[in-house]
Amino acid sequence: MLRKGMPTQFADIPHTIFYHCVEDSNDAIMITNTAGLLVYVNAAWSKIYGYSSAEALGKTPRLLHSGYQADDFYKEMWSQIRDPKVGYWKGELVNRAKDGSLVPVLLSITPYRGDDGGFSGFMGIAVDISYRRELEAKVAHQDRLASVGLLASGLAHEIGTPLGVIRGRAEFLAMRAKEPKIRTEMEIVTAEIDRISKLIRSLLRVSRDFTDVQLAEVSPRAVIDEVLGLVGQNLREDLVEIRNAISSEVRVRADFDRLVQILLNLVINAIHAIRKATKDGRVDRHFLEFTSEVRRDGFIEIRVTDTGCGIPEENFKKLFQAFFTTKDVGEGTGLGLAIVSQLVHEMQGQILVRSKVGEGTTFSIALPNFSV
Ligand SMILES: Nc1ncnc2c1ncn2[C@@H]1O[C@H](COP(=O)(O)OP(=O)(O)OP(=O)(O)O)[C@@H](O)[C@H]1O
Ligand SMILES: [Mg+2]
Repeated sequence: MLRKGMPTQFADIPHTIFYHCVEDSNDAIMITNTAGLLVYVNAAWSKIYGYSSAEALGKTPRLLHSGYQADDFYKEMWSQIRDPKVGYWKGELVNRAKDGSLVPVLLSITPYRGDDGGFSGFMGIAVDISYRRELEAKVAHQDRLASVGLLASGLAHEIGTPLGVIRGRAEFLAMRAKEPKIRTEMEIVTAEIDRISKLIRSLLRVSRDFTDVQLAEVSPRAVIDEVLGLVGQNLREDLVEIRNAISSEVRVRADFDRLVQILLNLVINAIHAIRKATKDGRVDRHFLEFTSEVRRDGFIEIRVTDTGCGIPEENFKKLFQAFFTTKDVGEGTGLGLAIVSQLVHEMQGQILVRSKVGEGTTFSIALPNFSV
């Protein structure tokens, strides 16, 4: 039956056509009754959110709340829908799917009327915009890196000049010192100054804006030294033993700065995983190991192995998706591995992962051997 006042053209169309259009729509469609309980969800809805229609029907769409929007957000949303002058809501929000992953959507909510013309419930159409959000987040991340880079280069200059003066004076005093004890002390001062200068140079490198890929002969061992220089303090605090079994002779074709960024992300993830394992009660001696292997296809695999909490198999597929994180809000954005995988592919490399819950994880970065 058609609602009174509907244009007559609809009378000629079999009404099931509307059902099929909704059912086959690529965008998620949900319909609630007047009490706000779901009475219908289409196939795309189930695909995006992971709940079958049997699991969803009879529940409220609050099922999808992610905690990313404050209560005020929903209050404002409903006041717009109820306001006869507006009568609908449209905007972007972040939902949570059944498996816990976050789904950013563009959602529109409209009240609909039944056969008798009276209010019958709400219809929501959600367009999955993860892809767009992913791009925006990557751009934002790069922007942030660029501004950190700007700060770092300013600081490097400001700190570098007085450091140079201090170093000069320290050397002068070391030369004039008669007592060997004082000479040794002054040498420690210069060595520490050199350490600060090196750290500043590393910081400058990590925060560089990545635009052009510069493939050259790179020593993975040198890259790892640089990364450990940046995070070494954390490793010492966590009592993680470091095993660097990569020979200084190994050479890959890579972009040095990109490889620093990649390994820095993997090492930070490994430290977090080890901390989690310790918190979960595995207090055995933890280690972080770097190894390399030449593959038959001429690639070299650089492997980062940790004795952390490990990754459940069902998460393997999601690891490299932007926003996939198991860390608490504020602790991880879930962008690390998404950026890592982008950087690896920009260098024509591959990334592989092997892991066992309760034992640890190995990430391998395969890059072309420089000498072939
Ligand atoms: N070495 C590892 N051991 C165990 N789990 C890991 C390891 N590396 C990554 N993971 C898992 O993969 C998820 C995604 O990692 P990713 O680096 O992309 O994001 P994140 O570390 O959570 O946040 P961000 O890097 O943006 O700060 C992590 O939340 C964690 O669950
Ligand atoms: Mg990370």
